[in-house]
Amino acid sequence: SPLSVLATCEPGSNSAAVESYAKINWDELGFGLVPTDFMYVMKCAKGDEFSHGGLARYGNIELNPSAGILNYGQGIFEGLKAYRTEHGQILLFRPEENAQRMKIGAERMCMPSPSVEQFVNAVKQTVLANKHWVPPPGKGSLYIRPLLMGTGAVLGLAPASEYTFLIYASPVKSYHKGPLNLIIEDKLYRAVSGCGGTGGVKSVTNYAPIYRAINEAKAKGFSDVLFLDAATGKYIEEISACNVFVVKGNAISTPAAIGTILPGITRKSIIEIALDLGYQVEERPVSVEEVINADEVFCTGTAMVVNPVLSVTYNETKAEYKTGVGTVSQILYETLVGIQTGRIVDTKGWSLQL
Ligand code: COI
Repeated sequence: SPLSVLATCEPGSNSAAVESYAKINWDELGFGLVPTDFMYVMKCAKGDEFSHGGLARYGNIELNPSAGILNYGQGIFEGLKAYRTEHGQILLFRPEENAQRMKIGAERMCMPSPSVEQFVNAVKQTVLANKHWVPPPGKGSLYIRPLLMGTGAVLGLAPASEYTFLIYASPVKSYHKGPLNLIIEDKLYRAVSGCGGTGGVKSVTNYAPIYRAINEAKAKGFSDVLFLDAATGKYIEEISACNVFVVKGNAISTPAAIGTILPGITRKSIIEIALDLGYQVEERPVSVEEVINADEVFCTGTAMVVNPVLSVTYNETKAEYKTGVGTVSQILYETLVGIQTGRIVDTKGWSLQL
C-alpha cells in the first residue's frame, strides 16, 4: 500500500527553490494528467479523527472491491493550484478555502475530514515534494487534487469503515483552448433543486452523470454545456466544470450558490475583485433570456481560471459575445492571475508562499 513506502521516500529539501525543472516540454501542457513523483496519503477509521499521514511515491493504490467509494460513490474532491513567480518562489492560492469546503462536503457525505491545518500542511508537503513539476513562470501551474474517500469495505448501504485522504498533483495549463462555444442543455440537469441535493458540494457523484451531455455537445461541435435549474428550466446554473457569469454594462451577475451550485473559490475571488474594480455584482437567479442578451459571458473555476465565452446556443438561437482585449473578463482574468502569480501585490492575504 502507499503508506508502506513512506519510509523509503525522499522527497528532497523542504524549500521552494528549484535547481532544475522536470524534463518535459513545458510548451505542450494542456489539462491532461502528467504524473508527478509523490502523493500524500492519510487514513482514518470511521469514528476517529485523521492524525498521521505522509508522502508516498505516486502510483496505483490498493482498494477493497467493496470499498465505499467504488460501490456507492462516497467521495469528494478539491482542486487548487500552485504557481511559480518570476522570482522562482511557489505560491498556493487560498488553500484554506479548499480545506473549509472539503469539511462541508465531508459532513454532507458522512465522512471524517482533515482539519484545515492538516489539509494545508498536506498540500504544502505534496507541492514541495513535487517542486520540479511546478511549471516555470508563464508555462502553467501545478494542479493539486485532494481526494477524500470511503475506502473501507461495505456491502449494505452505510458509510465506510475507513477513509483515505489523498493528494496528487499534475502540471497543467489551459483546460479549454480559447473562448467557449456553449450549448444550453434543457433535458439533463446537473443538480436537484431544493434542500438535500449535493450540487453545492464537490461530490464525485456530480460529475460522471453529465458526461452524456458533454459528449453530445462535443459531437455537435460545442466546447461545453451550460446547465439549467431543474425546478423551472428558466435559469442558468453551472457549466460542466465551472461557474458562470454574465456581463451587461457595468453589472456582473452570477447564479447564487444556494444548494445546487458549487461555491467556487475562483467565483468568490472574482466577485471580490470585480467589486474592488467598481463593477456592480449581483448573486441572483440569472435567466436564459439575460444570457442571450448579455454583452459578455465568462466562466470561472480553478481549472478554467477565467475563460471567456464566445457564443451560447439555446434551441435555434445563437448569441455571440465580446471576447479579448478590453473586455471585463479579460480585466478580471489579468487581475486574478496577477495576484496568483505574484505579479500584482496580494493585499488580501490570498497567496501562501512556500
Ligand atoms: C476545478 O476547477 O478544480 C475542478 O474541480 C473542475 C474539474 C471537474 C476539472
